[in-house]
Amino acid sequence: MSEHKNSSYISAKESRKITRFNRRVTKKLEREREAAGHDPSLYTTVMKDPNNVVEFDNVCTYFFSDNGVVKAVDGVNFSVPKCSTVGVVGESGCGKSVTSLSLMQLLQRPSGQTVGGQIRFNLGDGTAYDIVKTPTSKMQEIRGNKISMIFQEPMTSLNPVFRIGNQVDEVIKLHNPQMSDEDVKARTLEMLDMVGIANREGVYRMYPHELSGGMRQRIMIAIALACSPTLIIADEPTTALDVTIQAQILDLLQGLKDKLNSSIMLITHDLGVVAGMADYVVVMYAGRVVEKGTADDIFHHPMHPYTIGLMRSKPVVGRKVDELYSIPGSVPNPVNMPDYCYFRDRCELTCDRCKGLYPPEIKISDTHIVSCYRYYEDGEVLGQPKSVNVEEL
Ligand SMILES: Nc1ncnc2c1ncn2[C@@H]1O[C@H](COP(=O)(O)OP(=O)(O)OP(=O)(O)O)[C@@H](O)[C@H]1O
Ligand code: SF4
Ligand SMILES: [Mg+2]
Repeated sequence: MSEHKNSSYISAKESRKITRFNRRVTKKLEREREAAGHDPSLYTTVMKDPNNVVEFDNVCTYFFSDNGVVKAVDGVNFSVPKCSTVGVVGESGCGKSVTSLSLMQLLQRPSGQTVGGQIRFNLGDGTAYDIVKTPTSKMQEIRGNKISMIFQEPMTSLNPVFRIGNQVDEVIKLHNPQMSDEDVKARTLEMLDMVGIANREGVYRMYPHELSGGMRQRIMIAIALACSPTLIIADEPTTALDVTIQAQILDLLQGLKDKLNSSIMLITHDLGVVAGMADYVVVMYAGRVVEKGTADDIFHHPMHPYTIGLMRSKPVVGRKVDELYSIPGSVPNPVNMPDYCYFRDRCELTCDRCKGLYPPEIKISDTHIVSCYRYYEDGEVLGQPKSVNVEEL
């Protein structure tokens, strides 16, 4: 939209034009969402594969910002199978959190909008909701009950002025209004036990500042799992913790997932965490999925030059190097993404085809898919991620 395509300068005239455009488009999208919410046939659908808990199908989530449209997530495709852990990795700003916030419908609206694609969430009765169109009233039944989220920093997620017990009680009561106060307290104590809190009666009466970071994260896990959700989204659940506590928290999460038959969508930029826990891995770059497969596919047979770079930049115990590898260059400007491969300007393995449009997805095996021209002849060409032309909104 900017006339100065290669600079971040925006004149007053352009800025007014962007503001007018954003207001018009976001108002229209909000109206459409409101209308879809009144008609269950518009937001009820079926899963492509009933063994999946959630399916992201060409999801596009854009931010209508003062600098123009930021395509934070642009045509993302992947699924989370039942009872499995899917790791979502990629560098800062690649759209990992926006993908999960789109699933929870917790985007900063009206500027943040999912403008295209479907997010199918399995309700377990043969039907699914398309989260993109699901009204807020229905989302409130899903959030906490069927999908819950564990955030990076437990101190900012817990309320500092309420005791731990009250905060866990509140969540249980909200989702089970028929439960008596005694039953709610008993369930809270049971949850504290389950997440490995030794002095549960004492901790029940404590305030968040009286607990260590690891204990606070255990409380967050207790809150998230209080209603036995089918999907747990863990967004960088251990980045604020030291390494030994990290391992304990990840073990706890994995154990509870198996106990509750839930699935985990594990968002992290730490490949070590993913290697230890994930069954499947999705690699994102600049708002798109560039490679996905089983943990074995990604860790032992990485194909996309970005994934290969990520693996090379991971320190390995016992391997001596003078300097840790870092991928040269930087991500393109999110307001003006190129029409060719987003990684091309940083890629050390380019070929002739890379001069063309953004590469399609190429199916290497039943589980392994990569978006890179290097493998054009090696698998089935599936097609490009679908972007939305904002001028047509
Ligand atoms: N409220 C917002 N307004 C405008 N742009 C936003 C907003 N929230 C996120 N973005 C943009 O969306 C893109 C993706 O952000 P996101 O938070 O999903 O990154 P991430 O992969 O989770 O990164 P990190 O590892 O740092 O958490 C970024 O370019 C970011 O600047
Ligand atoms: S498509 Fe070409 S430029 Fe893009 S990652 Fe593959 S080899 Fe590199
Ligand atoms: Mg994030």
